[in-house]
Amino acid sequence: MESGTSIYGECGEFLPLVESDLRTKIEQYDAEEKRTGGSKIIEHLSSRIKSEESMREKCIRKGLPATPESALRLIHDAVGVRIICGFIEDIYVNVRHIRRIPGWTVVEEKDYITNVKPNGYRSYHMIIRMEEPFPDPEGNLPGVYYAEIQLRTIAMDSWASLEHQMKYKKSITNSGMITAELKRCADELAGCDLSMQTIRSLIRENDDGLEEKR
Ligand code: GTP
Ligand code: MG
Repeated sequence: MESGTSIYGECGEFLPLVESDLRTKIEQYDAEEKRTGGSKIIEHLSSRIKSEESMREKCIRKGLPATPESALRLIHDAVGVRIICGFIEDIYVNVRHIRRIPGWTVVEEKDYITNVKPNGYRSYHMIIRMEEPFPDPEGNLPGVYYAEIQLRTIAMDSWASLEHQMKYKKSITNSGMITAELKRCADELAGCDLSMQTIRSLIRENDDGLEEKR
């Protein structure tokens, strides 16, 4: 492939549209949930298009050629969104909404909340297949695009951000202790997530009780 050409090829220009479609559909069910259920199921939303550089690195890591076919077909996280929730339960409410979005098909789900990674990482991952009103790398219309959705609580997100930032080498001195300490922090944060959820349930039961007395 000649240098200076985007790894996303002609379809690179469409990725911001895929990103904005993702955000819009999520914001729509969030607004609907707020209106009908009265509760906030998303604390905040962030999204990104994977940079050329990271995508090229990922292709090399996976032993794939740096082509649009690799970047948009074989790899599914060129476009990504992170949904940060206040409580663990809200993650699963979001997951149920996402599964029902017309034009989206969930092709992969990984529940690292139930199945915590050995290092302590927690998050719920979904890969979705989206049909879009513009062409894809094969020239299909509607075009097919993939995106990764990561759902986490605020606590899970702070741990993941800091752990990612530190990206420590497994060869450094004390690496065993560092790994164990990071895992301990992840588990403590998970304990807080559970406590916060219990507290919310207690408050809600109380509110419901008051409702009934009226
Ligand atoms: P990829 O080839 O990277 O997509 O591997 P995979 O599909 O096995 O990855 P997975 O779905 O488990 O995770 C993909 C993304 O989740 C990563 O790019 C990170 O953003 C995040 N992630 C997964 N594991 C960790 C972790 O241990 N720490 C942090 N900070 N983030 C993680
Ligand atoms: Mg992945």
